[in-house]
Amino acid sequence: MPAKREHWASRIGFILAAAGSAVGLGNLWKFPYITWHNNGGAFVLVYLACVAAIGLPVMMAEILLGRRTQMSPVPAFEKLGNRGWGLVGFLGVLTGFVILGYYSVIAGWSIKSFIECVGWSINGYQQPADTAFGKFLSDGPLQLLLAFIFLFGTALIVWRGVSKGIEQAAKFLMPILLLILGYLVVRVMFLPGIGQTFHFLFRPNFSELPAAGVLEALGHAFFTLSLGMGVMITYGSYMHKRESIARGAGFVVFLDTLIALLACVIMYTIIFSVPGVAESVSGSTVGMLFVTLPRLFYTELSGGVLIGPLFYVLVAFAALTSTISVLEVIVSFFIDKLGFKRSTSTVIGTAAVAVCTFLSALSLGAVGFLSGFEIFAGKSGVLSTLDHIAANYLLPVGGLLTTLFVGWFVSRKISADELGMLDESGDPTFSFKLWLFFIRFIAPMAILAVIIAVILGKDFS
Ligand code: PFF
Repeated sequence: MPAKREHWASRIGFILAAAGSAVGLGNLWKFPYITWHNNGGAFVLVYLACVAAIGLPVMMAEILLGRRTQMSPVPAFEKLGNRGWGLVGFLGVLTGFVILGYYSVIAGWSIKSFIECVGWSINGYQQPADTAFGKFLSDGPLQLLLAFIFLFGTALIVWRGVSKGIEQAAKFLMPILLLILGYLVVRVMFLPGIGQTFHFLFRPNFSELPAAGVLEALGHAFFTLSLGMGVMITYGSYMHKRESIARGAGFVVFLDTLIALLACVIMYTIIFSVPGVAESVSGSTVGMLFVTLPRLFYTELSGGVLIGPLFYVLVAFAALTSTISVLEVIVSFFIDKLGFKRSTSTVIGTAAVAVCTFLSALSLGAVGFLSGFEIFAGKSGVLSTLDHIAANYLLPVGGLLTTLFVGWFVSRKISADELGMLDESGDPTFSFKLWLFFIRFIAPMAILAVIIAVILGKDFS
């Protein structure tokens, strides 16, 4: 066991690292896609309600578990509960393998898009053939190379530790990410499609919201806020006692939501600004981000030579700060539970993830049986299967068990004390009672509804 637990070197360290974990492909790839398919407005409103009523309280619960125990998920659950509860932490570690296994493959595509854009910016745009993306997907060696570059970069940062690795990386990557995002938002404000974008996003019309959209919004809230697998427990365990959990969680939730909405503003405005494109945005999630947009950057936008490469730097940085957090859950498990050194833990954790990544990368057409097998209807191949399992089962179940544990098992006194929500006479404040109500009743019931919907056949991946 390490003699002393590592901590963030500064208050902003936790915030940037946690926000870095939350802001990722979920914001830039999944959210714009599901919002598009759920017809905007009303879906956005429901999503905001889910984030505020369930995402925020659950994030506070996870951080408090980590901060109180100063331990990673498995020992944290064991300390405040018992060995049985430790299995919930272990589920989080397993979820980490599953998520990192496919996420690093998709993250790798941002490297390819970046290089392609740089080439177009220098040599002029050349419209790729319609089959180009399919060919790229089934190019096994290239998929492996890109995914492993990403995984290797993630491992290098995690290897360096909490303050010297994760915090430094977040302090470098997040401001650049925000600057690029800000630049892109300002840029699209002057395009003709901006009015239609605001109309689409912020004019709710509940008759256009598919019933399942409500549950989809909640399912996505877990994914995008990195909840349900112990990331926030782990990051909370590196937080100093003097910091406010509610304030930290509030800021992370706010930033994540803002960035998801801004990603929509950027992408939709470009799409709405070009006549005919909105009708033809493909039904696939990757279509919008990796196929439609690059073409529009170069054929329809002045300044596309700058916007194209910058946009994929944004995607890559957002993904990297997320993969770092997932690997850290795995690595901190080996450190805290098995007593390994950080370096050894990083090597073992990365090697184990690499197996999943290897299978995912080859499941997009390169290797027949990895691409073709189907456990869940309509989800063929390892990558889609892992995404389906994580988003539909692992994160909601992990989230449900965490809320039940904190709400019903951990004593009110411990929770109120850790959240700093005791008044002068030592009684829980009103804010605490409100938080507890959401954790005990609202969050578990809502998550249960998602799980039941999944069992009845709904798909949130
Ligand atoms: N929150 C990340 C995103 O929105 O892309 C994905 C993610 C990271 C999910 C870490 C879960 C997790 F534990």
